[in-house]
Amino acid sequence: MSRIPFEQLPADVRQAVVDKTGTVHEAQTVRGGMNSGIASVLETESGSVFVKGIPANHAQAGAQRREAAIAPHLPTSCPRLYWHLELDGWSLLGYEVVDGRHADYTPGSPDLPLVEAALTELQGVTAPPDIEIKDAMDRWAEYAPPGTSQYFGGDALLHTDFAPDNVLVAGERARIVDWAWPTRGAAWIDPGALALRLMEAGHSVESAVAFARRFPSWREAEPDALAAFGAATAALWKEIAEEAEALWKRGMALHAKALAHTLG
Ligand SMILES: Nc1ncnc2c1ncn2[C@@H]1O[C@H](COP(=O)(O)OP(=O)(O)OP(=O)(O)O)[C@@H](O)[C@H]1O
Ligand SMILES: [Mg+2]
Repeated sequence: MSRIPFEQLPADVRQAVVDKTGTVHEAQTVRGGMNSGIASVLETESGSVFVKGIPANHAQAGAQRREAAIAPHLPTSCPRLYWHLELDGWSLLGYEVVDGRHADYTPGSPDLPLVEAALTELQGVTAPPDIEIKDAMDRWAEYAPPGTSQYFGGDALLHTDFAPDNVLVAGERARIVDWAWPTRGAAWIDPGALALRLMEAGHSVESAVAFARRFPSWREAEPDALAAFGAATAALWKEIAEEAEALWKRGMALHAKALAHTLG
């Protein structure tokens, strides 16, 4: 959807934000991501805040609520959620600002060890049992080879969308944002999802898999589980690429096919 500037939100919605932050001095729309109808850094009386929001009747409104629900359970590599507002047809989240840039995943990038450190921290987090999040077995069942979906099960908290837009590098730290798809499952899934994005950024499949192997969860996973992941990822991206013609989606489908071949 197209993104509107903060000033174009309905007056009562802006007032509700002001009630949280104090006077808004300046609002700057940010680049990156797709679904958020508004994504702005606000300079306010109480400091800066990143606000992302979508119309409450938008198909992704459920994702935004999941994002709010998981926020208190996230490790320090993720920015803090300050508040969640739902009013006058809008759902807004107010976050700690990460004053950084999108991660550079290209081979040899100095960002890669920072991304590794952020994901390592996340790998130690167990999915909270008391909130409703997706289960990896359900998410991948449709795409995984018959009889393999149990491999995806586990109790780790997974992010699953490591598009470089969703990893911000600020100083010596990478921060993971955009928790629209928090998922409970096997811990090795996130290193696998990241590996595919490294390929998109120019890594060979060998280099991407070597990066995944830095994570104990990946090294300790059963080869059959990783083969099922490769096959499921290839099937998923093939479907995405066929549904909507876009060059980057076709590229992702080709990388996923190569990953499946290597893991299979
Ligand atoms: N805490 C933050 N501080 C500064 N900038 C941020 C922060 N969180 C996200 N951003 C920037 O805003 C962009 C959009 O945010 P985000 O990725 O959370 O939403 P999205 O991708 O538009 O939404 P969705 O996941 O619903 O599609 C990010 O790509 C990033 O550049
Ligand atoms: Mg995003």
